Amino acid sequence: MKHILIIGATGQIGSELTMELRRRYGNTNVVAGYIQGAEPKGELKESGPSAVVDVTNGEMIESVVKEHHIDTIYNLAALLSVVAESKPKLAWKIGIDGLWNVLEVAREQGCAVFTPSSIGSFGASTPHTLTPQDTVQRPRTMYGVTKVTTELLSDYYFNKYGVDTRAVRFPGIISNVTPPGGGTTDYAVDIYYSAVKGEKFVCPIKEGTLMDMMYMPDALNAAIMLMEADPTRLIHRNAFNIASMSFDPETIYHAIKKHVPAFEMVYDIDPLKQRIADSWPDSLDDTCAREEWGWKPAYDLESMTVDMLEKLREKLKK
Ligand code: SER
Repeated sequence: MKHILIIGATGQIGSELTMELRRRYGNTNVVAGYIQGAEPKGELKESGPSAVVDVTNGEMIESVVKEHHIDTIYNLAALLSVVAESKPKLAWKIGIDGLWNVLEVAREQGCAVFTPSSIGSFGASTPHTLTPQDTVQRPRTMYGVTKVTTELLSDYYFNKYGVDTRAVRFPGIISNVTPPGGGTTDYAVDIYYSAVKGEKFVCPIKEGTLMDMMYMPDALNAAIMLMEADPTRLIHRNAFNIASMSFDPETIYHAIKKHVPAFEMVYDIDPLKQRIADSWPDSLDDTCAREEWGWKPAYDLESMTVDMLEKLREKLKK
């Protein structure tokens, strides 16, 4: 039986991944790790164990891992791309010093580790269309620098110490439970909230800017599927390209407008977000993930839009 620790369990991905892992592996086997000030609430708190786990504190990670007999760690602690530009040192401390702590505990305690990378690990010199699995990774954002380092350090611990590290490169994740904070792709979440609230959406990203995106249920499935995959089939480890949809602001706007005809959008471009978005791929080639562990997304823009609008109408009582 698996005993799982999620570090960053109250964040955008963590809050939903924790619940999905509890559904699959049993509530008591999945520990929600959080930092003070970001305590779990509601169902996340009530449905299973939780513990304070600050990724920058190796001893704290070790004691929780030992106490709960943890064999798998999902390490989701990170600052997103925009906020990392204003706090580069903190982004490194959480993303890389924190990862080092996690990997050391994993090496000593025999844990498997999932630490996501991102489309942000690519940069302007990467081929932008159908970006290959193995290609140029020279990002100029601190977020990107930490994500490339995450991939390298995770592979290093696998090759040198045999730690079972695996990861995907997440696209922008669209979700309706916990909002993202400080990312370049956040607009694709915010636009749904505006549509459901009946507000005009002010888009910070230019028309024509393509970025890879994914609906949360597919993102959760990718992480769990990869950690369950037969290791003998894995040629790559850190980290796999995964893809399900790629669109620009006009395309998502029209997908929503089909269901909310009065919905309006105007542009007010954020130069930092635009610069970051321009440096990222337009679309990823995820052939390796499909071949090595059977990756296949379930949602496209239309089916995601229908589900997002329904879930947000319930949530916001609209
Ligand atoms: N969603 C992230 C960001 O925008 C990218 O992985 O920073």
